[in-house]
Amino acid sequence: MSQTKIFNPFEFDEKEKEAFDRDGHFLLPGILTSEACKQLTRSLALIQPFRESKDPQLRHHSGYAAEYDSYLASLIAHPQMLDLMHKVLGPDIRFDHCGTLNRPPGHQGFGWHSHGYADDQPELGLILVFFYVNGFSADDASLKVVPGSHHYRDPAIKGGTDQELRSGWLNGKKHPMTGVPLDLEVLEAPKGTVILMWIHAAHAVNARKLDSTTRWTVVYGYRNPGEESSSRHITKEFEQNPYPGTAFLLSSS
Ligand SMILES: [Fe+2]
Repeated sequence: MSQTKIFNPFEFDEKEKEAFDRDGHFLLPGILTSEACKQLTRSLALIQPFRESKDPQLRHHSGYAAEYDSYLASLIAHPQMLDLMHKVLGPDIRFDHCGTLNRPPGHQGFGWHSHGYADDQPELGLILVFFYVNGFSADDASLKVVPGSHHYRDPAIKGGTDQELRSGWLNGKKHPMTGVPLDLEVLEAPKGTVILMWIHAAHAVNARKLDSTTRWTVVYGYRNPGEESSSRHITKEFEQNPYPGTAFLLSSS
């Protein structure tokens, strides 16, 4: 297991956890070390061609990225990663998935949606940890969110475009804690940013500009055990032959 630091020092205590629980997402701008950024860029660039492969086994990689690259696998149980996950999820956690979310120039982006986990059990959470290695600006493959939308624990938010989301799912909904009408927000992330997000939060991605470089991104999912997870992406092979130090995080329940 890699012990090299992946995060520069950052604050994530009670106040930050409160904001994360209120909004559904939390930005940790520029916390990835330059060494982690370098390694991640290399790993993500190495496995990116698999996406175009004719071999379905290799095309598979984008949802099982850590199983194709030992550096990505080494982050699953990295002490700094686990420390952060325990702060948000508490003592009992499981690894859920690791996927690439690279956005090459001209990528069309992704419409509004949410995901589910233990939808009727708010005490069980699933968190997405996005590593935006080279960041993104507000108009270039930016992540968009709806602060407060995760409180609805609706696994089937569908909106398509911003306009469709506003006239559809968003219409008339309020933040259950603050009473403020829900609205979308376009994020901006400097190089090396980590973003945490509860899996029920509505999110979408703007298109990548044609003259930009690839946005290098990987996402890790962690959850409290207790329910079956439809986003869990761990092969039998990995379970039977886990990356050293990760076995205790892999069980499906
Ligand atoms: Fe998503």
